[in-house]
Amino acid sequence: MTHAQAKIRHAKLAEEIRGHDHAYYVEAKPTISDQEYDRLYHELLDLEKEFPDLITPDSPSQRVGGEPLTEFKPVQHLSPMTSLDNTYSQAEVREFVARVQRLVPDGKLERMVEPKVDGVAINLRFENGVFTCGATRGDGTTGDDVTSNLKTIRGIPARLRETGKKLPAVVEIRGEVFMPKAAFAKLNVERTANGEEPFANPRNSAAGSLKQLDPRLAAKRALDIIVYGLGTFQGAEPPKEHDEVLAWLKKAGFKTPEKTWKCYSADELIAAIDELDTLRKKFLYETDGAVIKLNSFALRERVGFTSKAPRWAMAYKYAAEQAETKLKAITIQVGRTGALTPVAELEPVFLAGSTISRATLHNEDELRRKDIRVGDTVTIEKAGEVIPAVVGVVLTKRTGNEVQFVFPSTCPECGSKVARTEGAAGEGGVVWRCMNPDCPAQIRGRIEHWCARGAMDIEGGGEVLVGQLVKNGLVQDVADLYKLTLDELMNLERMGEKSAQNFLDGIQASKSRDLWRLLFGLGILHVGAGVAKALGKAFATLDDLFAASLPQLVETEDVGEVIAQSIVQWHGDARNRKLIERLRKAGLNFKSSLYNPAAAAGALAGKTFVLTGTLPTLKREEAAAKIEALGGKVSGSVSKKTDYVVAGEEAGSKLDKAQKLGIKVIDEAELLRMCQPSNS
Ligand code: IVH
Repeated sequence: MTHAQAKIRHAKLAEEIRGHDHAYYVEAKPTISDQEYDRLYHELLDLEKEFPDLITPDSPSQRVGGEPLTEFKPVQHLSPMTSLDNTYSQAEVREFVARVQRLVPDGKLERMVEPKVDGVAINLRFENGVFTCGATRGDGTTGDDVTSNLKTIRGIPARLRETGKKLPAVVEIRGEVFMPKAAFAKLNVERTANGEEPFANPRNSAAGSLKQLDPRLAAKRALDIIVYGLGTFQGAEPPKEHDEVLAWLKKAGFKTPEKTWKCYSADELIAAIDELDTLRKKFLYETDGAVIKLNSFALRERVGFTSKAPRWAMAYKYAAEQAETKLKAITIQVGRTGALTPVAELEPVFLAGSTISRATLHNEDELRRKDIRVGDTVTIEKAGEVIPAVVGVVLTKRTGNEVQFVFPSTCPECGSKVARTEGAAGEGGVVWRCMNPDCPAQIRGRIEHWCARGAMDIEGGGEVLVGQLVKNGLVQDVADLYKLTLDELMNLERMGEKSAQNFLDGIQASKSRDLWRLLFGLGILHVGAGVAKALGKAFATLDDLFAASLPQLVETEDVGEVIAQSIVQWHGDARNRKLIERLRKAGLNFKSSLYNPAAAAGALAGKTFVLTGTLPTLKREEAAAKIEALGGKVSGSVSKKTDYVVAGEEAGSKLDKAQKLGIKVIDEAELLRMCQPSNS
């Protein structure tokens, strides 16, 4: 066969295979036998072997997964991926309807309701019709490049199908990658049989699969995708309405939400949400809610965004599912802050897509208030990503043989005395705390937290390995991680050279992480990721931060008295200061790339704005960007903390509230004056 002939045959085969893939994976209507498909596929592979230049990125052969990666590269979305406001209350859905109606008082508004797929949000970029890049949402601006893994998903066409409309030069397609319920159940059976930890729910397993560095492993996971929106759309006439988008996406070769509703009134919306609640149980994937969206893009533009989410959409989440089971025992878990958390050990029960055998009981007060006893039949609840919790006792099932739990007066890990303390954020109420900083459970917790993805992101630094490191006396605190050697790691039980080296590479890579990750990783009480980022914006280096006085800290955006005190107190402890010096010696980065003195010293620093109504020239996002560039903050709702409400035409309830609270109301012209250089 000549090269020219091969080229023609290859193009034809590729086209044919793509068509069969679409029929099988998207339409679920196979058009040929597996055998016939294999024959076509092998013919394609043979041609590519003989003429390797015929291999194009969109060839069906490129789905099997390329070489393993060492890391996921960050990729910036062309348009940001925002999140949605959530509610569990139908009353809030009605408020949402009224709110949008106030912003656009003219006429009946058309809204779409569609399933909220419980998976991982993904952005797919197609250039001239070819899939070129796919990324996770990340922080909304920048995500992880998971293109190689996404290529293994047959529901993502390697090139867009003919739609009868002009092909956009660049288009971003937004959707949710998920693992079907059946595939999830099968995977967990396999994992348990192999002695691996089962995934908690289908969403975690989809996320875990997408985060496999080796695409050949990701290819083995039965992932699929449903798409529901667009980001950037360039080089062709963009659609004007959401249902037009869905129709276009379907023609272009994707699965779109399997049922949507067009609604006008709040009653119709609620009826659609209720109908979906019944239908979703039969869907092949988890659906945790309904998404309501304004259909018209022109109206979306008028309604705009808050700082976090669009005002034209909302997610209604279905209430947590509940189940009854027996409480076999109560154990105590000691966290990194020393907090003693009672944990319910349960008779395993299937709930909301996964098997539950443990649930949190929060703290002693909660346990007493609910009068939960060992041997009780209890109701447990789980909503989406929330850890399962015991809601209460089924009193009618009490036999009298149940036993009250006696809270320990010493730490079950190290035997030290425990003290009742005020709970930190997320711990709730009053907690018993082990006050011994050398308690092995706290040491383990601190190191695991340091390694966590949201902190220093050291792959492998999970419960099992950290447990071994502490037990063998190799690591006492996070600075010890930087002294570990390959030999030491390989001497640990069940540790191969490859995993040991990977862990060491992760530790090495963590040295250059941004300052906010290090700050969060230190686990200073009340310094969560958000506060750590705020500190990173306000201080150039760790030394500048620790040199700051209490009043200086309090002045920092998002940092109040309690947080500032906690930072000062932490640094006041000589052991912590020593730890910092050891981290410095180990070569860790103490500089902040977020540091933005212009914003910190900007004309609007420390001021909170709320935007309402339609401004004469600026779009809402533009006004927000101007305010933020000068250090101001934009909030979605008016409160006593608001400094200015910028009101445009048809400003609604926010303006009323501002007037009631006596907050200064300004117009766009005044805002622009405040943003002028002479003011900064
Ligand atoms: S629209 C600006 N539609 O839910 C609008 N999101 O809670 C962006 N999701 O981040 C999203 N199904 O990951 C939209 N039919 C659907 C969805 C959906 C699931 C996810 C998505 C989003 C999250 C918001």
